[in-house]
Amino acid sequence: MRKPHHRIIKTFHLSPKTLTLTLIPLLTLIFFLLIPNPKTLTPSNSKDPTTLLSPDPPRFAYLIAGSTGDGERIKRILRAAYHPLNSYLLHLDLGSPEEERADLAEFVRTEGVFTEFGNVRIMEKADSVTDKGPTEVALVLHAVAVLMREGRKWSWFVNLGAEDYPIMAQDDLLHIFSYLPRDLNFIEHTSNMGWKESQRSRPMIVDPGLYGSNKSEVFWMKEKRSMPSSFKLFVGSAWVILSRPFLEFCILGWDNLPRTLLMYYTNSFSSTEGYFHTVICNSMDFHKNTINHDLRFIMWDDPPRQDPRNLTSEHFDMILDSGAPFARTFAHGEAVLDKIDHELLKRPNGQFTPGGWCWGNSHFGRDPCAIHGKQKVLRPTMRSKKLESLLMKLLDTENFRPRQCI
Ligand SMILES: *[C@@H]1O[C@H](CO)[C@@H](O)[C@H](O)[C@H]1NC(C)=O
Ligand SMILES: *[C@@H]1O[C@H](CO)[C@@H](O)[C@H](O)[C@H]1NC(C)=O
Repeated sequence: MRKPHHRIIKTFHLSPKTLTLTLIPLLTLIFFLLIPNPKTLTPSNSKDPTTLLSPDPPRFAYLIAGSTGDGERIKRILRAAYHPLNSYLLHLDLGSPEEERADLAEFVRTEGVFTEFGNVRIMEKADSVTDKGPTEVALVLHAVAVLMREGRKWSWFVNLGAEDYPIMAQDDLLHIFSYLPRDLNFIEHTSNMGWKESQRSRPMIVDPGLYGSNKSEVFWMKEKRSMPSSFKLFVGSAWVILSRPFLEFCILGWDNLPRTLLMYYTNSFSSTEGYFHTVICNSMDFHKNTINHDLRFIMWDDPPRQDPRNLTSEHFDMILDSGAPFARTFAHGEAVLDKIDHELLKRPNGQFTPGGWCWGNSHFGRDPCAIHGKQKVLRPTMRSKKLESLLMKLLDTENFRPRQCI
């Protein structure tokens, strides 16, 4: 494990020119890595070579999902991770009280910024979601379909739970991702099943959430199945950042692989930790576009237990040092979240994380983002350098290709 060390948080903003210059190593790396695959190199917007140096920022589509009692946490994550370029879909599962969903819907309706940009929606007709059941995968696919249908041209989909929190401003994330090929998928995976072969892949479950109206738990069948022979199983983190082309492949289903695997995973425990991983790694078209990392900061016990550790102030230095844009898991109202807001996001309580789109001032406690300018003007900070170094490491020739789908 890396040793945390103290550092002074730099509060100044870099000029776009300085950042562009410092991004040259990342750009060069991407250029040489991807040159054998010309399809992925094409800058997304134009043939003009100068756009390589100041590319258009991408858009992200977020699903922020929770259950009973998660409404307040979802509101907080939304404010912390908000940017007008992105799309946000909120979901409180069918098990949560109707009043809580109505309260969240009211929050979305009454926040001027959301109504103005029209990029936040709540799934008012909630899905039934069973803990560790296939209904979790069904929710993600449903959310992706809804986000696609809205017609905003987003490039990446991110799933967040109520225990997640951003640890980097969206301006930093959008800035660095502007330089990446839009078909990369961040998905942590391995085919080395270990104990999961006997505990996850062979046992079969049934998820009553598929047909019952009340929230319940999955139940286990007596029979076990053999390991599949027509495809190879992969497991990994349920937390992903997936590209639009890959998700179109999953949702539109012109190839039967995503559909066959969805049916297979109906009887698997914890299918969010295997479905996308197995689809992408068994697909000739997409396995080369995987980066074996979920871009989350997560602390596991040694040996790992079912759930990762709850992060507290004790982990702040590691959070600070991590290049990941998100961290998990946080307990409700955990004090370190205030510290993250204050020191990493510069977000005053109840306001948005400031960025280049916020033009107002903060006199008398006003939210500077209530007055806004151009959405595409990003104001990245030194935090973006952390993400850049992480990506440099992940795209390194020793890490990138050799760790794909193995
Ligand atoms: C579902 O829950 C409701 C309220 O708790 C209860 O009245 C109803 O009987 C339950 N239905 C089933 C099929 O268990
Ligand atoms: C994290 O905190 C929640 C309460 O907020 C608790 O239910 C859960 O067990 C904790 N997880 C761990 C791994 O300690």
